[in-house]
Amino acid sequence: MLVEKNVPLQALNTFRIVAKAHALVRIGSQADVQTLLASAELGAQPKFILGGGSNIVLTGDVKPLVLKVEIKGRRLVKETGKTYVVEAGAGENWHDFVRWTLEQGYPGLENLALIPGTVGAAPVQNIGAYGVELQDRFDSLDAVDLQTGQIFTLDAAQCAFGYRDSVFKHTAAPGSAGLGLAGRALITQVRFALPKPWKPVLGYADLERRMSEEGVTQPTAMQLLEWVCAIRRAKLPDPAVIGNAGSFFKNPTVTPEQCADIIARDPKVVYYPLLDGSIKLAAGWLIDACGWRGKTVGHAGVYEKQALVLVNHGEATGGEVMTLARAIQTSVYERFGIRLEPEPVVV
Ligand code: EPU
Repeated sequence: MLVEKNVPLQALNTFRIVAKAHALVRIGSQADVQTLLASAELGAQPKFILGGGSNIVLTGDVKPLVLKVEIKGRRLVKETGKTYVVEAGAGENWHDFVRWTLEQGYPGLENLALIPGTVGAAPVQNIGAYGVELQDRFDSLDAVDLQTGQIFTLDAAQCAFGYRDSVFKHTAAPGSAGLGLAGRALITQVRFALPKPWKPVLGYADLERRMSEEGVTQPTAMQLLEWVCAIRRAKLPDPAVIGNAGSFFKNPTVTPEQCADIIARDPKVVYYPLLDGSIKLAAGWLIDACGWRGKTVGHAGVYEKQALVLVNHGEATGGEVMTLARAIQTSVYERFGIRLEPEPVVV
């Protein structure tokens, strides 16, 4: 296997943070993973799995062996009365895959258009946007256990999806029977169950506004995809132009009592009641209310049009990004008593 040494990672993370991988191997197939694990030199080394690099903050050079996942392929696996099951290699670009499914006549992923990253990274944080989460369209995935070399398949329940969360973000507590697959499972293929007949998922305020502006009452999947792209382009920075990792914090959930307390002090707070009785607050609003929009620490900044997104104004280090993130957490905690939890993985 070709092991590349001292590989610059700036182009391989969407935050565009300067860092190096001490060693990097490109993974093009399941067989590549098994060859690597069988290697006397590489098999036992600590490893770090890198997809599209769209959900990480690099705070220094990466010492574990970087496995850059480049597994390709897209195909219809089967068609049933209720679904098209479509599979993609983990290294496929997410947005290109979404567009391809629509072009092939398998709609259902359009609300998730333009999310940066790869197909293999999508289940890790259960990506979501405009009323759809990956788990709503998920069928199953294949992965290789980096400790044992075993190939295994997980269904949705086994992935333990939550809000921007899955079994792939957790390590199993020592001695616990629970599954934790962080750093252990290298996802190779993901399958999606796209519902038949297709129904648009509307209801999100930005989409409803588009619909009335365009005078369309029954949009096609492709129209929805274009609207989602336009909304994202207007609000979110394009990582090709300005480095970022999307939303930097999760939207926190609070009890109705906590929410009532905040409303009493800040009637404009943006919140969404959830089905389980808890309430989700817009973290972007909380950060904005603390005056952070457009502020900077060194070369790291808070995006001018969306306070939930931290950006790299040129040469930001991971340390600067994290200093800014901690300052934001402190001021939101001091004003609202709420602890914001970062969404990206800090490496
Ligand atoms: N808001 C402000 N000020 C700001 C930012 C937001 O007042 O600076 C308010 C907005 O006015 C709006 C509310 O906060 O009323 C929510 O904002 P928005 O609709 O932009 O959505 P979000 O909660 O900030 C979430 C996801 C995004 C996803 C959008 C659309 C999270 C952490 N983020 O953002 O996901 O695209 O909804 O569904 O759940 C990502 O995860 O990387 C991501 C971009």
